[in-house]
Amino acid sequence: IPVQPFDYVVFGATGDLTKRKLIPALYHRFKDGQFDEQSRIIGASRSKLGDADFQKAAREAIAQFVEKEYQDEAVIDRFVKIFSYVPVDASNPEGSGDLGKALRDDPKVVRAFYLAVAPDLFEPIAEYLAKKKLYRRDARVVIEKPLGHDLASSMEINDGVAKIFKEDQVYRIDHYLGKETVQNLLALRFANALFEPVWNSAHIDHVQLTVAESVGAGTRGYYDESGALRDMIQNHMLQLLCLVAMEPPASDDANALRDEKLKVLRALKPIANGDVARNTVRGQYRGVKSETTSVAGYQDELPEEKKGSRTETFVALKAEVENWRWAGVPFYFRTGKRMASRVSEICIQFKPIPHSIFDHAEGAPRPNKLIIRLQPDEGVKLMMMIKDPGSGGMRLREVPLNLSFAQTFSERTPEAYERLLLDVVRGNQTLFMRRDELEAAWKWVDPIREAWDRASEPPQPYTAGTWGPTGSIALIERDGRTWYEDHH
Ligand code: BG6
Repeated sequence: IPVQPFDYVVFGATGDLTKRKLIPALYHRFKDGQFDEQSRIIGASRSKLGDADFQKAAREAIAQFVEKEYQDEAVIDRFVKIFSYVPVDASNPEGSGDLGKALRDDPKVVRAFYLAVAPDLFEPIAEYLAKKKLYRRDARVVIEKPLGHDLASSMEINDGVAKIFKEDQVYRIDHYLGKETVQNLLALRFANALFEPVWNSAHIDHVQLTVAESVGAGTRGYYDESGALRDMIQNHMLQLLCLVAMEPPASDDANALRDEKLKVLRALKPIANGDVARNTVRGQYRGVKSETTSVAGYQDELPEEKKGSRTETFVALKAEVENWRWAGVPFYFRTGKRMASRVSEICIQFKPIPHSIFDHAEGAPRPNKLIIRLQPDEGVKLMMMIKDPGSGGMRLREVPLNLSFAQTFSERTPEAYERLLLDVVRGNQTLFMRRDELEAAWKWVDPIREAWDRASEPPQPYTAGTWGPTGSIALIERDGRTWYEDHH
């Protein structure tokens, strides 16, 4: 369904996010007819560019970041016509162009400001918009991480934006919520009657959340200030936890859903002080050099002044959600850079059967597992026991009941930003983080970080291309469990 016409102002128009994600996402939606030439995309940044420069940059972004088969010259020509550019320096309004002239003063035209800039510019830009009378009560502002490096700095950022924009105008992006398969978690849980009755501590033994990446991180300036806990757990992975663990909301209303997510975050058992060493493991990858491969370690990638950094590139931890549904069910998290492969998945492991009648069979019954694969090869897999076909007596075997999205559907899987950018236009905040959620997540993460900062020992080393340090294996094996690995 096409959205209302809009004026989308993108601050940070010359930056990486705009080029890599925003322009390609808007292009796809334009191509699919979800909006047309009635809408405008207005680039704003400090560079003194003109409309033609921004249109050229848009063409280049499409050429570079949209798959060839979707590059349609006729569509691109129409698309770039809606691009214009205004030089804006929020700290020097005198030297700025007239953004007001580029915007339409029509209540039917949605007004959205995407702040694809560093967070210390959020407040000056918001104030600039107010001063120039470009703020409207129905305007929307989009912001994205890093939204702080701890609770205090996150509150400061939120307070800065809140000076001008009300909470119902603020769209905080966590791009994981825009992923098809993450939204599919909601469908799986709340559009099927099958799972909800067993979705609790009576039937589930534990849950594993894995986001493993094969890329490195040392050459990314921002990463060393952040580390895996802030970069992946505080936001993306806690959001995944929320979707797995929350109570069914009463409706798909944005606040109904976000209220339930918030309750999960607030029910997380704090990990602080002595518990940190017991329940968390942090690691940093080391390079490998052999005759056939050579991969740099994190330290080797860092610039000279940062060498010796203790930033973690891997985290494993054991979390608990202390409420009626989940009491006693551990949630094991692990995420890292330069791991054995790129895979994100959630594994729900059920309890063993209460009594086995198969004492004389070959192979013991193994507990069922439900695996939700977020990427790559999106899909859902239920591991179950069957009788091995054939005449060899009763032989039990574990097999997957496998739903592969690629094999089942022919549609292209949209990128996270496509859905999110147009949800802003639709005025739908369901897939955006509310302020209290973000702050509850920091509140839980901060004590872990603080204990690590106080600890004398550095992160455990792990070899690039492996599943992380041995401490991560020990963390889960101590409880008599093992990390799930796909053998099927
Ligand atoms: C980003 C992190 O938010 O998410 C990156 O800053 C990480 O470090 C990325 O690589 C992962 O996103 P995706 O969509 O590739 O899983």
